[in-house]
Amino acid sequence: MSSLMSSPTQTTAWKQLQKLSEEFKREDFCLSDLFHAADDRFELFTLAHENLLLDYSKNLLTEKGIGKLIKLAEDCGVPAVIEAMFNGERINHSEDRPALHVGLRDPECQNPAVSDTLGRMETFVDAIRRGEWTGYTGKRIVDVVNLGIGGSDLGPAMVTEALGDFANGELELHFVSNVDPVHLESTLAVLDPATTLFIIASKSFTTLETYQNANTAREWLLQRAQNNAAIGRHFIAITDNRAAAEEFGIDPANLYPVWDWVGGRYSLWSAIGMPVALAIGMANFRALLSGAHAMDRHFREADLQQNMPVIMALLSIYYRGFFDAHSTAIVPYSQRLNLLPPYLQQLSMESLGKRVDVMGKPVATHTGEVIWGTAGTNGQHSYFQLLHQGTNFIPVDFIAFARTTAVGKELAQRHLLANCFSQSLALMQGRDEPGAPHKHVPGNKPSNTLLISELNPYNLGSLIALYEHKVFVQSVIWDINAFDQWGVELGKLLSRDVFASLANDNSDHAFDDSTCGLIEFVKQWNQQ
Ligand code: F6P
Repeated sequence: MSSLMSSPTQTTAWKQLQKLSEEFKREDFCLSDLFHAADDRFELFTLAHENLLLDYSKNLLTEKGIGKLIKLAEDCGVPAVIEAMFNGERINHSEDRPALHVGLRDPECQNPAVSDTLGRMETFVDAIRRGEWTGYTGKRIVDVVNLGIGGSDLGPAMVTEALGDFANGELELHFVSNVDPVHLESTLAVLDPATTLFIIASKSFTTLETYQNANTAREWLLQRAQNNAAIGRHFIAITDNRAAAEEFGIDPANLYPVWDWVGGRYSLWSAIGMPVALAIGMANFRALLSGAHAMDRHFREADLQQNMPVIMALLSIYYRGFFDAHSTAIVPYSQRLNLLPPYLQQLSMESLGKRVDVMGKPVATHTGEVIWGTAGTNGQHSYFQLLHQGTNFIPVDFIAFARTTAVGKELAQRHLLANCFSQSLALMQGRDEPGAPHKHVPGNKPSNTLLISELNPYNLGSLIALYEHKVFVQSVIWDINAFDQWGVELGKLLSRDVFASLANDNSDHAFDDSTCGLIEFVKQWNQQ
């Protein structure tokens, strides 16, 4: 991959962009003026793909800047690396494997295991939803608890919540991720073991949180059922580690694969999406996959200038590189998308939080930004003040749906949209208040608006794939590996030793003074 590319900062385009960006930092620059200067700015700076419209006109750029950004993408070999990903090349260099999540939603995928797994999921989902699959007392399953963390939790939880209007209401989905026992205990407190199904979702099947919670859940079931055979009716697992799952006691017939060529944060489209399929049915789950596939095709086929993920990535590269943007706020004007920001947090920050390039050399520029946000309008009453008048430069992605699927709620939807559009307007235009500096709102704050016809499985699939590819293009330009996450390993490793030290009577630990001090305080306070 790297031989195709040069470090972004060494390209002529980078230097030209650096210079161009200065014009937008001048005291007298006014973003609104760009609209006065060109009647067709909205037309020029919007991209439509099926039911998604990206309006990027409220950004600190003219056509010239976009041209330079496209040149940067070309110089960094973006088209070739996109092809390499779709062709299954081993673009995850540090783990020597491909990143082929796009194959999971490709109806023409050449790997028979993919369609076979979808078929098995369908049989299982239908049996549960029809009440044919019963628990150990013969009662139908009414609650499903997903035990997983990171990519084995955030995607399924986010989509299940987002598509709540497509659920038949007969099954309640619960998501338990934290090793803090309160998470599982408070969930189990209201459940009946005879009617509860557990999904152990762990690609590695070694993740501490999930393993602990799975053990507790198994004990909880067996205490009531008093029969090991109950595990076969109440536990399924989704994993790449069959041996560990079988050792745990999972019936091989209840095992669903997730393959090593699917990264955890890209695994929603595999059997890791089982909670989603259970909640909304397999037809809707397939619609989610189709929407993602439609975005894959757009990403692979559209010219760079017309390519939605590419344009979004370039804008982030631009602000990170030339405006010192440490973070990006993602604000979906949809309560149902409340979990989208934490989902995108993992997708983006685990993928782009890297300090060396694919060859292991230190990167030449800042990489991943902090991703954060909550549903609008709530955010307007908490952190928007900082966006409007604070000293940080924070680009915003607004996401909104043109129509609501809730019958009779059109008026509320209009309020939601009015708020969304007026926030991006206020960020852009600001307000001059001569003689009242505390009231002065500087404006010139950039944002994208993603307007989507409505929230449904197909459109949501497209939206998620859009961000996946955006993150990938950022990684290509920064020449970093979006598919590994070595940084999280160290903490996991150290926690084993700290755990042991917390448990033993010995006060002679092999840690620094601070860690030893904290451990000793825990012991002391536990003895009181
Ligand atoms: O946090 C690290 C990580 O490996 C993520 O990348 C992954 O999504 C999560 O842990 C869960 O991993 P697993 O599915 O193997 O339990």
